[in-house]
Amino acid sequence: MQIVSYTSAIMICLKSLSLKTNVIQSPMAGCTDLAFRLVSRSYGMKFAFLEMVAAEPLIRMTPKTLRMLKRTALDSPLGAQLVGCSPELMGEAAQIIEGMGFDLLDINLGCPVSKVVAPGGGSALLAEPETAKKIFQRVVSRIKRIPVTVKMRKGFQDPSAQEAIRIAKIAEDSGISAVTIHGRTRVQGYSGAADWDSIRKVKEAVHIPVFGNGDVLSGEDAKRLRDVSGCDGIMVGRGGLGNPWIYQSIDARLENRVPPSPSPSLEDRKKAALMHLKLECDMEGERVAVLKSRRIMCWYFKNDPGSHELRNRINRTQSAHSLEQLIREFTSAPLATI
Ligand SMILES: Cc1cc2nc3c(=O)[nH]c(=O)nc-3n(C[C@H](O)[C@H](O)[C@H](O)COP(=O)(O)O)c2cc1C
Repeated sequence: MQIVSYTSAIMICLKSLSLKTNVIQSPMAGCTDLAFRLVSRSYGMKFAFLEMVAAEPLIRMTPKTLRMLKRTALDSPLGAQLVGCSPELMGEAAQIIEGMGFDLLDINLGCPVSKVVAPGGGSALLAEPETAKKIFQRVVSRIKRIPVTVKMRKGFQDPSAQEAIRIAKIAEDSGISAVTIHGRTRVQGYSGAADWDSIRKVKEAVHIPVFGNGDVLSGEDAKRLRDVSGCDGIMVGRGGLGNPWIYQSIDARLENRVPPSPSPSLEDRKKAALMHLKLECDMEGERVAVLKSRRIMCWYFKNDPGSHELRNRINRTQSAHSLEQLIREFTSAPLATI
């Protein structure tokens, strides 16, 4: 099988897919839903992932999984990510994903959650190279057109990046088109600084494109990550939550251009938050949207004075209308307690 993958300054080609960017948003369970993606795209995000989807419920087409796969015509190009530990089920699920018209399929070797790790999926596969190889080969053999990528941590427990290097080489030999390295071990979870040097070690070990991930919160961070690791692309994680301006800032910094706008003002953030709230209501219905938005709204104002009290008020809110009022009236000054 021929793998076509090459990178230019702002384009990464993976098989038939030309990513017209080298800055992409990571899959994030409970975060990168359709409303998040539409808000982010309207501010300049060019490639996104769904939240991860487990192979077995996808095959059974459970209502929850079908909801996670929801997209609109504007939500493109879009990647899906599969998590699982059975080569057979992963292969079958991969075929379904391609049939649904997604542009790229990623295999999850990073999830640290016990529910996923205990049966042998997610980051557990870092320590099971034979099973990982079977999954890669089975998935690649079942996919006809779209690129298959792998997102992994630098290791399960071993901080040296040797596990990621070994898995990345297996991925390359199995026909995987690119890998993403999150510079933390499973044991670290999401704490501690991401080790960008581990990304460099993987980049030096393989010829397929490598995306660097971990602790990119600004254009400046992205530039430093690229300089340290030599990675081909940047995968934004938590830095995209409540900050849809980050993609354009990174694009500009990587291309040595002046960022399009300085830091977003409070009014800019209110506007984006209200757009997010409205889209959640449109996509999920008011009850679910209000529950989800309790967390989402706080992303936009987390560093403002008064954000703690705002959060308390948001958590007591029962309707989209009163949530909207709270956001509109938020002045970034400490609010009087009611
Ligand atoms: C709430 C949450 C959900 C996540 N869900 C996924 C997921 O579904 N698939 C995945 O590969 N990584 C997932 N991740 C990991 C992120 O994609 C990313 O690799 C990680 O947060 C490191 O990047 P950061 O330091 O820039 O946030 C998740 C992380 C968080 C905090």
